Amino acid sequence: MSQVVRQLAPQGPAPAEVAGTAFGRSVLAGLAASPKTLESKYFYDAEGSQLFDRITELEEYYPTRAETALLESNAAAIAGFAGPEAVLVEFGSGASVKTRILLDALPDLRAYVPIDISGTHLKKASAALAADYKVPIVPLHADYTAAIALPAAVPEGRRVGFFPGSTIGNFAPEEAVGFLAQARRLLGHGARFLVGADLQKEEARLLAAYDDREGVTAAFNLNLLHRINRELGGDFDPAAFRHEARYDAAEARIEMHLVSRRDQRVQLGGRRFAFREGESIHTENSYKYTSESLARLARQGGWQPLAEWRDPEGLFSLHGLIAP
Ligand code: AVJ
Repeated sequence: MSQVVRQLAPQGPAPAEVAGTAFGRSVLAGLAASPKTLESKYFYDAEGSQLFDRITELEEYYPTRAETALLESNAAAIAGFAGPEAVLVEFGSGASVKTRILLDALPDLRAYVPIDISGTHLKKASAALAADYKVPIVPLHADYTAAIALPAAVPEGRRVGFFPGSTIGNFAPEEAVGFLAQARRLLGHGARFLVGADLQKEEARLLAAYDDREGVTAAFNLNLLHRINRELGGDFDPAAFRHEARYDAAEARIEMHLVSRRDQRVQLGGRRFAFREGESIHTENSYKYTSESLARLARQGGWQPLAEWRDPEGLFSLHGLIAP
């Protein structure tokens, strides 16, 4: 008598559960879209956050070094801009590395409110800061792109927002305006906002920053497929995709793509997605600005541009905004 061998259940959540998480729904929608897309905010699981930390140390990736130097060399002016006894609110605080420069420059700060989508990052970073600074830390575990409120434990005092890294560049212009308007509501009348923005520059320099020789950015991009396999039970073969960085001069943005090396099919959540050879998944936009283009977005989001600090090479700028 022959035995019927039952197919092993695939690993990961059952099809219905994939659609039960925000990540799963976003991935299903993105792969069903044409052209295919994945949301860049999902790069940052534990693995992706580690890869991003390595990116910030790469020779080719100038933004982190340029912004850190800007914060350091203008710390006194930035402290003057923030004013006394403020409450520092950071959007997407990660490891809170640049924050230390501000905490050093603002010794009378009433509180520091790091907001991050990663609870692990938030706990680790808060503990590390608490060991070195006396300022009360009020972490907020949230997706800052959603409508959020400050925790009740946040004391009075002028709100000073901090959005470094040119993370604003991940938003399309109209989304950036929406984010700025939401931050304006969260921080309130009289608030200050310090926003880091990567500047438009020679294309070769931009492309190198998003396609480094060591392949760390490629691994960061491909980790999204590994994450889909790990958390959603997808069966992507990441080796069948290659990382690609492009610059769209008309949109003034770097795009990251994962390009299929061959015709293939991928299964996820009980659905099948077909890829043609050369077809890409668009995984990230990173907009590049001029002083004027960033100031225009700020005004549209209800902020008044007051100051701008930029490095001598003109690589990166920090904008000081006021909420009228
Ligand atoms: C964290 C969004 C600012 O766009 O430069 C780095 C992310 N992507 N290399 C950027 C990123 C590829 C980074 N931001």
